[in-house]
Amino acid sequence: MPVVRGRNIRVLYDIADIDARNRELSAEIAASGYENLLVISILKGSFVFAADLIRALHDSGLEPEVEFISLSSYGAGSASSGQVRVVKDIESDVAGRDVLLIDDILESGRTLAFARQLMVERGARRVGVAVLLEKPGKRAIEMEADHVGFVCPDLFVVGYGMDAAHAFRELPFVGVVED
Ligand code: IMP
Ligand code: MG
Repeated sequence: MPVVRGRNIRVLYDIADIDARNRELSAEIAASGYENLLVISILKGSFVFAADLIRALHDSGLEPEVEFISLSSYGAGSASSGQVRVVKDIESDVAGRDVLLIDDILESGRTLAFARQLMVERGARRVGVAVLLEKPGKRAIEMEADHVGFVCPDLFVVGYGMDAAHAFRELPFVGVVED
């Protein structure tokens, strides 16, 4: 088991699992008919996934533009608690465009529902959603992703961009802190 910061990390998805799944996801996205695609990575958690997925999208024949939006939930703790706000916005106009939102995890659904609604209000022609992980049975509101990497057990995961109290984003795998 990898030891990071003196903690044992149990690997759930290693980079080979993730790479293989990113290829399947990008093929699925390429077959979904997005036009003039603008990919929007939701910071911070999705930056590693987005970086790999856009290169897989290139290999699948797509030429997306890329934007970043920083969203955060009010309140502290590891569970997102209610209101979502824009910390740093995108710079592009999404009116009339096909948008693909990329996030790390779909849990309560609040973050992605907020982001999707924001893009719809701004006049996006189509808003798709891709997530690396989905935790089933955790939704506080109705929200489903169009493209899901892995359906993940209900554990707090870290790595591949995802953090626990700002740590572990650099891990090249998705894992669980064991002790
Ligand atoms: P939602 O609004 O509850 O769907 O929140 C999803 C967001 O919460 C994700 O984008 C992550 O930033 C964060 N999150 C949820 N579960 C985890 C986890 O297990 N590890 C790290 N971050 C998580
Ligand atoms: Mg996030």
